[in-house]
Amino acid sequence: MDAITLLTADHNRVRGLFKRFQTAEEKDKTEEMAKLAELIFEQLTVHTSIEESTFYPAVKKQSDDIKDTVDEGLEEHMVAKRLIDECQSVETGSDQWKAKMKVLIESVEHHADEEETEMFPKVRSAFQGDGLERLGQALEQEKKKLGAPVLADAIDLTKEELAAKASEQEIPGRSKMDHEQLAATVDPRF
Ligand SMILES: [Fe+2]
Ligand SMILES: [Fe+2]
Repeated sequence: MDAITLLTADHNRVRGLFKRFQTAEEKDKTEEMAKLAELIFEQLTVHTSIEESTFYPAVKKQSDDIKDTVDEGLEEHMVAKRLIDECQSVETGSDQWKAKMKVLIESVEHHADEEETEMFPKVRSAFQGDGLERLGQALEQEKKKLGAPVLADAIDLTKEELAAKASEQEIPGRSKMDHEQLAATVDPRF
């Protein structure tokens, strides 16, 4: 799978967690919020790490324009990491924690949208041949090293199983995804 499709799958997996977090907050389910927050931190840490170690260095060489969006992306990653640290340093479930979680979610939503609308289209047109597929393989290897689930862990599930998980995990856009996209997006551990 190409690098952009894989990274977009990560974004949608996290968007699902955000949605579930917000629902848990509306229902005042603090334990559920705490559980989802841990998953959000884990997913964001893996995702920013593979972008920084593998995707950003490979794409910023393509053009000055892409390099500018990568530089902005790196700054936004730093903001997200700082917010994660802050969330982890205050009492889980407190009003301050909820406020920090809200800012983290808003900031990551903005960052992911910007990558998808500004950075990824430029990257897609800059790469030729199987360049993006190879970059996708490198991202998967990095994920594996970090102990995170990869596409291969979910690809053998049936379309029905994948669709059920995608629905439970509140994955946005799931009805339009094919088998491979669903397998890349769902978290097979749950
Ligand atoms: Fe990013
Ligand atoms: Fe991203």
